[in-house]
Amino acid sequence: MLRLRKAKSAVPNRDAAGDRLPRHIAIIMDGNGRWAQQRMLPRTAGHRAGVGAVRKTVEYCLSKGIQALTLFAFSSENWRRPAQEVSLLMELFIASLEQETEKLHENGVKLRVIGERGAFADKLQARISASEELTSQNRRLDLTIAANYGGRWDIVQAARRVAQDVENRLLSASEIDTARFECHLALSDLPEPDLFIRTGGERRISNFLLWQLAYTELYFTPVLWPDFDETVLDAALEDYAGRQRRFGCTGEQVEDSTPG
Ligand code: FPP
Repeated sequence: MLRLRKAKSAVPNRDAAGDRLPRHIAIIMDGNGRWAQQRMLPRTAGHRAGVGAVRKTVEYCLSKGIQALTLFAFSSENWRRPAQEVSLLMELFIASLEQETEKLHENGVKLRVIGERGAFADKLQARISASEELTSQNRRLDLTIAANYGGRWDIVQAARRVAQDVENRLLSASEIDTARFECHLALSDLPEPDLFIRTGGERRISNFLLWQLAYTELYFTPVLWPDFDETVLDAALEDYAGRQRRFGCTGEQVEDSTPG
C-alpha cells in the first residue's frame, strides 16, 4: 500500500493578529562551539547551553501554535568531530530525552527522531524508541530531531524503498513520480517546512532536508544557537509573514487567490 504525502496547499496557519505563521519550522542550530569559545569555555559547554535554547524554542512554538518543529541535532558528518565532543553530544541527547520526555508528553508534543539510528549505542536507541512510543498519539506539536541524518541519505533510502517496490512488482518504473517517491522520505506525513532558520551566521543548507526544503523560505541569523530566544524567533516570523510564496506562480496569481 503506497502512502502519499498530505496535501501541501492546506489553509495557512495564522497567529492571533492574523499574520501568516509557518506550520512547520526547520532549524539548523549552529554556533554552540563559538558561543563557548567567546566565554573561554570548552565547546561542550556550548552544547549544554544549546539544550536550554531547544527547550525555549519548543515552548515558544507551542505557545504560538506552530504545528511542526524539526531540529538538526547531529549530522551524518558530525562523527568527524573529536571523539570527546561526539560522546558528550550523545550523552546530552540521552539525558535530554530522559529529562524532557515526560514534560513533552504532558504538553501534547509528539517526538520522533529521523536519521540512521542504527549507528547509535543500544542505550540511546532504546531511549529514543521509548520516548517516541510514549508520545506517539500526541497532536499539538510534531517535534522531530534529526540525528545522524543527512538529506542525501534520506533521498537514497527512499530510492532504495521505491526500487524494492518495483522489484516486488507493486509499481512499475514508469509509475514513479514525485508523490510516489516522497512518501518514502522522512517527514512525509508532515507539511513541508515553510520556514528554515540557520543560526550562527553561515548561509548553507549543509545536507539538511534537501528534498523537503525545495520551496521553503530561508532565514539566516548571526545569533549563536545558545542565544536563540523568542526575540530572534519573532524576527524570523515577522520576516516570514512579509514574504510572498509563489510556488512557481506569478505574484498577481498569488494575490488573486489570497483571501482578504
Ligand atoms: C552546531 O554548533 C551544533 C551541533 C552540532 C549540535 C547541536 C546540539 C544541541 C543544541 C544539543 C543537543 C540537542 C538536543 C535536541 C538534545 P557547532 O558546534 O557547529 O558550533 P560552531 O559552528 O560555533 O563550532
